[in-house]
Amino acid sequence: MSNPDPSWRVLCNDARDLSPIPDASVHAIITSVPYWGLRRYVDDDREIGREETLQEWIGNLVECVREWRRVLRDDGTLWINCGDSYANDAKGWRNCEGIKRKDMIGLPWRLAFALQADGWYFRSAICWAKGLDWTDAEREAQERIRDALAFVREQAAGSLWGLSKDLARALNKAERAVDRLAMSGAAMPESVTDRPTSAYEMLFLFSKSEWYFYDREAIRVPRSGNTHSRGEGSTPKGRAAEHTNIRANSSFHAATSGHLVASRNARNVWRIATKPSPSGGYQLSDGRIINHFASYPRALAARVILAATSEAGCCAKCGAPFKRVVETVQAKRLQGGPSPKRASINEGGRQSSALVNNTLPVTKTIAWVPTCRCYGEPIEADVPCPACNGTGIEHAYPRGNEPYKARALPGRHPGSINTDHDGKDFARPQPVGGPCPACLCPDCGGSGQETIWLTEQERVAGTAPIGSDRKLPASAWGNNQGKKETGEPCPTCDGLGATGRINGEIWPVDVLETWPRQPCTVHDPMAGTGQTGMAALDLSRSVILNDLSSDYCDLMRERLSVWPGDLGAARSKK
Ligand SMILES: C[S@@+](CC[C@H](N)C(=O)[O-])C[C@H]1O[C@@H](n2cnc3c(N)ncnc32)[C@H](O)[C@@H]1O
Ligand SMILES: [Zn+2]
Ligand SMILES: [Zn+2]
Ligand SMILES: [Zn+2]
Repeated sequence: MSNPDPSWRVLCNDARDLSPIPDASVHAIITSVPYWGLRRYVDDDREIGREETLQEWIGNLVECVREWRRVLRDDGTLWINCGDSYANDAKGWRNCEGIKRKDMIGLPWRLAFALQADGWYFRSAICWAKGLDWTDAEREAQERIRDALAFVREQAAGSLWGLSKDLARALNKAERAVDRLAMSGAAMPESVTDRPTSAYEMLFLFSKSEWYFYDREAIRVPRSGNTHSRGEGSTPKGRAAEHTNIRANSSFHAATSGHLVASRNARNVWRIATKPSPSGGYQLSDGRIINHFASYPRALAARVILAATSEAGCCAKCGAPFKRVVETVQAKRLQGGPSPKRASINEGGRQSSALVNNTLPVTKTIAWVPTCRCYGEPIEADVPCPACNGTGIEHAYPRGNEPYKARALPGRHPGSINTDHDGKDFARPQPVGGPCPACLCPDCGGSGQETIWLTEQERVAGTAPIGSDRKLPASAWGNNQGKKETGEPCPTCDGLGATGRINGEIWPVDVLETWPRQPCTVHDPMAGTGQTGMAALDLSRSVILNDLSSDYCDLMRERLSVWPGDLGAARSKK
């Protein structure tokens, strides 16, 4: 079953009036707002950014965002990119709002707090760190090229004939190219001498409700080792990654091709290269040249879209996104990793021989399930735990038979999991001996010992009950001062520490497979050159773009209709 093709649409409205878009119909909104007083894009009084005062700028944006709230689904998220600026005479700054000349204004934060006060859940402040994340090998290659060029220059200059004009020109060209490469995607240089150059912008995540759709799996980052492998472009998503210039990492491919990679939850610092619009502007088919000076990179929008909308689309009837069901398996580290530590042994308890620190969690998508009940219901059940097959005993892949055959590769951290698929079937996970972490006993928390609440008297005295000569195990006085272990095996799990059962929802496969679905919809109410739109199409999401400027709307329509090709850049006049 596959989703119908994604669709796109361009509106040319004031962002305070998105009346063509129905209530609660878009899954995610991502946009970059015009900064206060920085530049004019459009000749229109409704344009945001040209307000007299900071308060008006905030007020206008809050008004915009109220309209965005109307079109956003209750389980949707709003992502706002906003850079900061400085109070400065040169930009027509008038001393007001208690901000002095040379003050950093704190634009994004003032806006964020205003939106929070307006009812949004302020969920994350992500730092978009501008610039490329070169690998050591890439940096070294650049250095080698520089060295070689310098060497040629030196040799030629010292030769009998000296450095010829042609050679000098060629060397200059090559050196400039390497410089450009090293600088590509970096932040704009600033001519400041009394503070650091600004190299990041904020990206805020807001939600409409306490619970909202967020696919953490889609943007996981590799735990260690092979963080720089390039997409081979073999899967549709691999190609999409190339279009959006995502420096495809292995976890991106893991999510789309079934590879297993040790990874961790995305951090709130995202290093993404800037990608300015062509310097001479875009040339439309009627010959018009359209310039835009503040477009964000598609890769930034792509990362947001991956987390904020479902890869599996949404219910065709109500739009509820399908959500991912993941299974976490413990895969052993490669041979040569850190030496295993024994799990702490509970005093008086069953000896646990579980090897800890010797495995890495690996997540695997096992299903996509609806978040509504439009075309069917799951069977709610107490089911055998899939991680341990109902045994309650932790399972891991035997050493040497990890999903990807253990092989120490040069330049790779020995503790990481080898992500190169060797094409062989891998062995089933084997019992390791400790309690299964997926179905840990809720009553004893894995210790296997009967755990009871202390009486108030015991808790206050911090000792065993009067009249009892039984010493409490030290672990009973750990972090949780309200519980103690009796020394008897836990009745809930028979002393195993895990129950072997979980509360699960089971969706019948035929219900899932026949569920009518469509792609999720992304909206950018201030879309400029339409970067959000290209990123959405790359990822097979539908998209609605809007901008006040009819020039930008024309530009977006032309770009989207030829995508994944792009408009030619206008020739810049020399
Ligand atoms: C920072 S730019 C967005 C650039 C975009 N993210 C891109 O990658 O090309 C802000 C945009 O907001 C638009 N804009 C300003 N005021 C607006 C309003 N009242 N309604 C809709 N769009 C507006 C401007 O025309 C400008 O294109
Ligand atoms: Zn539905
Ligand atoms: Zn289990
Ligand atoms: Zn138990």
